[in-house]
Amino acid sequence: MGVVALVPAAGRGERLGYGMPKALVPVNGVPLLVRAVRGLLDSGRVRHVVVAAPPADVDVVSTVTAPSASAGGAVHVVAGGAERSDSVRLALEYALREIPGTTVVLVHDAARAFTPSAVVAAVVDAVEAGHPAVVPVLPVTDTVKEVDDRGVVTSTPDRARLRIVQTPQGFAADVLLRAHESGLHATDDAGLVERLGVPVLTVPGHQDALKITTPFDLAVARALFPEDGR
Ligand code: CTP
Ligand code: MG
Repeated sequence: MGVVALVPAAGRGERLGYGMPKALVPVNGVPLLVRAVRGLLDSGRVRHVVVAAPPADVDVVSTVTAPSASAGGAVHVVAGGAERSDSVRLALEYALREIPGTTVVLVHDAARAFTPSAVVAAVVDAVEAGHPAVVPVLPVTDTVKEVDDRGVVTSTPDRARLRIVQTPQGFAADVLLRAHESGLHATDDAGLVERLGVPVLTVPGHQDALKITTPFDLAVARALFPEDGR
């Protein structure tokens, strides 16, 4: 089957505050985006990667990711949009227009640059086994409270039933397209698909798939992933 990975990488990285788009921030010499693209291609399941880049940085992102293409897959770069969901939609439209035979689509944040290839493979395999939507998750280790506008606790959900959601999220291509054409809003792609009434399967994620959001996260990544590995 034709597996295409969309990589939203068009954010500004304001919370990281590094003075450049987060996707281009290096961790021990390798930009986050490059690590994310390599992780996808190294899974052996992904043939095409479509990166949504900051519109002003399409050329630099193309240059930085081009060497990864020789690792067994093609890398395409498109201009992203104002919101993450716009970037995903633009990359999806490109994939469905330009890459014939696209049947499975992954959506993978550049900010989750250290996701093990085994997680990518597990998500693809579950979609190819017939699940229309698949997300990697971790158990919740903290107790979680719901609060009202004044900060007063209104409930304590059963932690055993909660999961932290990571990427890549995998979808049958037609399901993701329908979700993005629905006009609905959600904080992740699986959230859109859920609202269509499509079941979303969870598979085990990995701690290494942490999202690099703040300087703390970057410090953790620099300590955990000192080597390029190549
Ligand atoms: N993203 C995107 N297009 C946008 C906004 C975000 O493609 N308009 C991407 C980011 O590049 C990132 C992923 O979506 O890979 C998750 O977003 P987030 O972690 O919030 O990254 P930023 O938006 O860059 O960070 P911040 O919100 O701190 O500015
Ligand atoms: Mg953001």
